[in-house]
Amino acid sequence: MTVTVLDSRPIHARDRADASWWRHAVIYQIYPRSFADGDGNGIGDLPGARSRLPYLKALGVDAIWFSPFYRSPQADAGYDVADYRDVDSLFGTLADFEDLLSDANALGLKVIVDLVPNHTSDEHAWFQAALAAGPGSPERERYLFRDGKGAAGQTPPNNWKSVFGGPAWTRVIEPDGTPGQWYLHLFDVKQPDLNWEHPQVRAEFLDIIDFWLARGVAGFRVDVANALVKDQQLPDWDGFVDDDPRPTSDSPMWDKDGVHEIYRSWRALLNSYDNPERIMCAESWVNPPERGALYLREDEFHQAFNFDFLECAWRARDLRDVIAKSLHVNDAVDATTTWVLSNHDVVRHTSRLGLPVGPRRPNGIGADDPQPDARLGLRRAKAATLLMLGLPGSAYIYQGEELGLPDHTALPGEVRQDPTFMRTEGKEKGRDGCRIPLPWNATQPALGFSATGRTWLPQPPEYAALAADAQEDVAGSTLEFYRAAIGLRRDRALGLGSLAEVTSYGADVVAYVNGGAADTLVLVNLGADSVSLPDGAQVLLSSDALSPDGSVPTDTAVWARL
Ligand code: NOJ
Repeated sequence: MTVTVLDSRPIHARDRADASWWRHAVIYQIYPRSFADGDGNGIGDLPGARSRLPYLKALGVDAIWFSPFYRSPQADAGYDVADYRDVDSLFGTLADFEDLLSDANALGLKVIVDLVPNHTSDEHAWFQAALAAGPGSPERERYLFRDGKGAAGQTPPNNWKSVFGGPAWTRVIEPDGTPGQWYLHLFDVKQPDLNWEHPQVRAEFLDIIDFWLARGVAGFRVDVANALVKDQQLPDWDGFVDDDPRPTSDSPMWDKDGVHEIYRSWRALLNSYDNPERIMCAESWVNPPERGALYLREDEFHQAFNFDFLECAWRARDLRDVIAKSLHVNDAVDATTTWVLSNHDVVRHTSRLGLPVGPRRPNGIGADDPQPDARLGLRRAKAATLLMLGLPGSAYIYQGEELGLPDHTALPGEVRQDPTFMRTEGKEKGRDGCRIPLPWNATQPALGFSATGRTWLPQPPEYAALAADAQEDVAGSTLEFYRAAIGLRRDRALGLGSLAEVTSYGADVVAYVNGGAADTLVLVNLGADSVSLPDGAQVLLSSDALSPDGSVPTDTAVWARL
């Protein structure tokens, strides 16, 4: 198809005087146990991460988000925190964190840490005190302990299910040795939910936030930000089914209105710091998007992951709809849209986009499951990334996506560690496949992840060719593609641009003009036939080779100067 004049309709205005760093930042997620291992025990750590900061600088990102490294029994890879103010010895020490932070800041990289407020570890001092103190004690009130139903209290207080499978309640043995009360855990049995109605819980988290702000972190990614407040009656709930159209807030545990006053108090604390401006980013799986935007009101979160974009099927119409809707609902509260395609909880987009279009993404892939088409997946993933980085707002990238890493899709059950796998008896494979230790050097032990060759999860054979050193300075590699995209995005101020949807192409093309520093055409062709660029357009970057006549083939994205 030939296009000479671009017709377009505006979907996002630029006129924002406030260009705060977080409104356009590219933020790199480090999953510490799988990033780089400094001590050779097979588990990544803070000294390992510190040694790789120059790589992140060269990649061009603005900030790093660290998944939890706090003291933890690691029942959910650190999302079960036993001490919020200390570093687990697996990952190093508080001094290691301070050294890392100071190096990162010297390189101009900001550091965001993870905050896990919905639940603690069962090994947290508060929970241990609650167990010891027994029913009716003030110690129990900081969690959600309840008596069971039935004559002997043998039935859970309600029918809620854990997100990881199985019941959301576990019965404790009381100090006198008899079976007693039950406690709520929306996730693993080792992750008891806190009672956010309790003033001590609220005060404690303000103090924890202050602890890390005072150390100089640039902010927090907030775990399950939509779960803290529950319906006090704890009524039975039959849950959502796939693609359930009901608002998340219909449930008694997700997206209750009461969460917002908590975040207003946090924001006030963050606002009392500056240089840099400190931020928080919500992990809040919420439907509909209008409810998600409530977290982004000016006195609450700065950012919230756009999971609708992450989950969007590889269909032009769906992508256009999600992008327009996201910008629309967030613009209404003057908020930034925060794009993301991969993280430590989902099948990497390189693998996800290699699966048939249509069905919901699986929670992990095993050897017996239908396997992604690796070439198609990578091709689409790079196109999706160029689309994402061409949109105004902030963007998160997950470690290893810049190498084009797929999931490990054939992990044997016996090495899997995600509690989801155990709690669903293998029905869901879980998230280990996207958490594989990174390949740094194609020929070294553990592909350069760890000097001893140890890795807490095995690396698949295809990771060797994707190692960072095999891609560095190699024209056409995924790593060089990411570097170029992040650099151009900065130069052309795409993260701060206006956006107009181009309507001159057919239904299978997603195209925008991003009015950043100058107009940039951002175009993805999802159709079977190549499409041509408008007359005079000069290609800046493409996700794959263009056709010999300069047209854009299927599953390819382009940025072009107009
Ligand atoms: C969301 C985190 O991203 C995930 O990894 C974790 O298992 C749950 N929250 C529970 O903390």
